[in-house]
Amino acid sequence: MLASVPAVTDSRDPKNLREDAPLLDGWLDYRASDVAPFGTPGHKQRFDLVGTVVDGDVPLYGGVDTIRQQSGAMIEADRKLAKLWGADWGRISVGGSTHGNQTLVLAACRPGDEVIVTRTLHRSLLLGMVLAGVKPVWVSPEVDPATGLPTRVPVERVERALAAHPNARAVFLVEPTYVGTLSDVAAIAEVAHARGIPLIVDQAWGAYFGFHPEIPQHALQAGADAMVTSAHKTLPAYTQSALVFARTERLALDQLERAFEVTATTSPSGTIVASADAARALLERDGERLLENLLRIVEHARDRLRKIPGLVLLGDVVDRSVTVDRAKLAINVSGTGATGLAVEDLLVAAGMPIELADRDTVVPIVSINDDLASIDRFVDGVAAAIEQTRSTPRPVLPSISWTVDPEVVISPRDAFFAPHATIPAAEAIGMGSAEVVAPYPPGIPVLAPGERITREAVEGLRQAMADGMKVRYAADRTLATFQVVSER
Ligand SMILES: Cc1ncc(COP(=O)(O)O)c(C=O)c1O
Repeated sequence: MLASVPAVTDSRDPKNLREDAPLLDGWLDYRASDVAPFGTPGHKQRFDLVGTVVDGDVPLYGGVDTIRQQSGAMIEADRKLAKLWGADWGRISVGGSTHGNQTLVLAACRPGDEVIVTRTLHRSLLLGMVLAGVKPVWVSPEVDPATGLPTRVPVERVERALAAHPNARAVFLVEPTYVGTLSDVAAIAEVAHARGIPLIVDQAWGAYFGFHPEIPQHALQAGADAMVTSAHKTLPAYTQSALVFARTERLALDQLERAFEVTATTSPSGTIVASADAARALLERDGERLLENLLRIVEHARDRLRKIPGLVLLGDVVDRSVTVDRAKLAINVSGTGATGLAVEDLLVAAGMPIELADRDTVVPIVSINDDLASIDRFVDGVAAAIEQTRSTPRPVLPSISWTVDPEVVISPRDAFFAPHATIPAAEAIGMGSAEVVAPYPPGIPVLAPGERITREAVEGLRQAMADGMKVRYAADRTLATFQVVSER
């Protein structure tokens, strides 16, 4: 059966993609032309001063298109993008899903609005909430007991939050989770719409959703009003590229445009947008076939990983009613006695950096650019790393990232701008945090501006650090002190 897996590289010549990808076409034209530019960037397409690190860097304005945007390639690419995802509005961004999240909060909300938000939000959405001045009403996902990983935000929790906060202006979810599980997005969309408010989904990890019958629908197909996805995370597109979409029944087109533009750079990379345009054209042309291949190689990996004693795959144990992205691998290693971080170190040493590791978990990104050889190399690496570090099995300890239980003291924006003091951790417990502190990955704030600092949060962060994870954004990286709101 595996012999019939088509090689990913048998896709037609990428140059043909340009016929349906105006930005890619502009980029290829520019690269083929004899230019002596007298505009930015300062490297002038020459590699004699800093070498080839700037090779391929073409600006959008004055490169892929003229400064006066006479070809209209960007508008045309955005139009094609929106059409493919069934959106009324779609934009390619060079600012990652970070930019998309900021755009969508600023487009949907006004200062002072309450919004229902999953507490496993990425810090970019939290900082979007600081910009917009909204007040979060948190809803938490369930956690799978066998792996300690998040599964879904139950519809009833959203309903309860909406009943308690009838003036909430929008519902924000992250779907899929970092580990490939999903809430019932369609049911939550209905609940939000029944109150006349939009459902907005951070689909950063699901850029390929909706392009294969065995892969979940994308958020707009499931009824959401807007979504952002990182093209760069899972599609063959440049780092930083993201796609932002909306339907305009419950969101205003002019506000979406304004919110996108005010948070965007004025010098977008033509290379990044051209790669996203190419990825869109590729999905449109070959998406189902490439995703079929992806599903098969991931299934092949699962078959092999299941044979490693003690190793557990989230998709095998999670409650059957939870939707799982079958193209995703989320591996629990606690039953092997090895730690995810030790496995990660050995994989890195073997030339295979992975997306996320914590004490009990290993999450690789497998994409349509992988093939049997690369996935076998990964599985061999995991097997070798586990055999090298195997030890006494231990119970699962869910990471603090998935189990934060916050109490909002003041809005994130008020806390961000409030006077603050730096005090020892023991004294900070019980006070309002002035800073974001998040193990990264996954980048879910464990402490957020305006939330009470709890003993569990501090201990959880210290545990993450002791396990070897990187804890980011804290002013004091040792976590001996914290920044707290000193005045209301
Ligand atoms: C759920 C989620 N949303 C948004 C982001 C930000 O994405 P980007 O790095 O493309 O800005 C991330 C990054 O990891 C994420 O995990």
